[in-house]
Amino acid sequence: MKQGPVSQPRHFLDINLIDSADLRAMLDRAKARKMARSGQPKGVLDEDLPLAGKVLAMVFIQPSTRTRVSFDIGMRQLGGQTIVLNSDDLQLDRGETMADTARVLSRYVDAIMLRTKGHEMLEELVAHASVPVINGLTDASHPCQLMADIMTLEEHRGEIHKQVIAWSGDGNNVATSWIHGAAQFGYELRLGCPPQLSPSASAVQWARDNGADITVTQSVEEAVAGADCVVSDAWVSMHDDDEAAGNRHNMLAPFQVNEKLMARAKDDAVFMHCLPVHRGEEVTAEVIDGPRSLAWDEAENRLHAQKSILTWCLE
Ligand code: CP
Ligand code: NVA
Repeated sequence: MKQGPVSQPRHFLDINLIDSADLRAMLDRAKARKMARSGQPKGVLDEDLPLAGKVLAMVFIQPSTRTRVSFDIGMRQLGGQTIVLNSDDLQLDRGETMADTARVLSRYVDAIMLRTKGHEMLEELVAHASVPVINGLTDASHPCQLMADIMTLEEHRGEIHKQVIAWSGDGNNVATSWIHGAAQFGYELRLGCPPQLSPSASAVQWARDNGADITVTQSVEEAVAGADCVVSDAWVSMHDDDEAAGNRHNMLAPFQVNEKLMARAKDDAVFMHCLPVHRGEEVTAEVIDGPRSLAWDEAENRLHAQKSILTWCLE
């Protein structure tokens, strides 16, 4: 039998690896689908069911609420199905390699979403999978979150390239995706981080090389001055060593987002957080539960943005 050319699967691994026009199209489509569903009961399926018959495997080496539920519901709304695999359900926990897991899962399912500690595990999965792979968070980045966050900020403040965004705290995985996004979406990004927790130098270099306007400073006040949006995240991420947690709390205490810090931003500035939140640590309850907080819209938009990611990978 004659075989055609073998096409490469379309992976969603990082914001800096995807064409900016594709990212834009994904968000536009997410907004259109969200609008089409508005006013309908939550369980209603999208009319066109583009992923009917497709199955997504979701592999969780680390816990999740939003990523797990939003991908599951997103697949259902698009007509597809999911299978959730926690690491202790799999032979991975007994030493089977990620490479072998990738080869086997690729024989059963149409796409694989992975949440893991080490980014190298994602790379091993991609190297051996013959179906699309989606990064559902690693220690290095969280691209699905960034897509939902850009969608949310645009809904509240309009054109993204006109926004000044201030990050306060650990220069972590979520910060890296905001850095990639600065080049792809054209917003100004200022990161206020303690010197020991500064953001990925290679991500900052890549973004600057691609035209991004990025400032890295140890002064959170400087980062936030006149900003449209202030973003923070947990002081201790899932991949961080618990023993270092006390030390991180001391380092990050001056970076807490509270009303005093928000007062340095624009009068109508908004606050963003990917959740889960630790009230009284990276942000006060007053701010995260106050009128400027977009956290709940960000959580909702994980669903809408990821439906576009799924269709981009699978259609
Ligand atoms: N923001 C986010 O990724 O949340 P989960 O850890 O609950 O998936
Ligand atoms: N930086 C956090 C994000 C959680 C969604 C973590 O990696 O734990």
